[in-house]
Amino acid sequence: MKKFLILALLLAPVGAMAAGESMVGHMAHNMNDKRISLGLSPGMKQHQLVNMRAHLAATQLIIGLLSEGKFEKASKVAHTKLGLTEEMKQMCGMFENEDFKKLGYAFHNSADELGDALQMKDMKRSLQALHKTTGYCVQCHEKFRQ
Ligand code: HEC
Repeated sequence: MKKFLILALLLAPVGAMAAGESMVGHMAHNMNDKRISLGLSPGMKQHQLVNMRAHLAATQLIIGLLSEGKFEKASKVAHTKLGLTEEMKQMCGMFENEDFKKLGYAFHNSADELGDALQMKDMKRSLQALHKTTGYCVQCHEKFRQ
């Protein structure tokens, strides 16, 4: 019994150190994250992530359809799932950060341009437009966090 107590006392600081280290690691991570926080409420956070996963799924769908030469279908996906629909306008309008809003609108507008490019059934133009649209994904993720 006594042995166990001594062992516990000996090991306690090790446990505390490990916990402390991981906390420092966590803080360092946050401090290194230089992205601008949008300060979203928990509800908005969930809503945004659901929306984002849908953006990713739509992008994958477009690439798949393109690979099969199904330009019409791909165009429809671009306009309805990524373009500046009423729903997307409303969603973007909810954010307070003006730069974020601008980037959001620019992204959705580029998706409508992508939809138009796909309509022309020209693979190279379509890929160029897709490249531009996904460039907004990259740009926004580099700059903002929830
Ligand atoms: C105008 C800004 C903006 C644009 C454009 C944008 N996103 Fe996001 N996205 C965000 C933010 C902010 C987050 C949350 C990141 C964080 O807090 O670390 C996010 C998160 C995500 C996530 C994580 C979802 C989860 O459940 O964890 C995915 C996936 C994603 N975005 C995909 C995309 C794709 C694909 C595109 C383009 C087709 C895109 N996003 C365009 C701002 C944007």
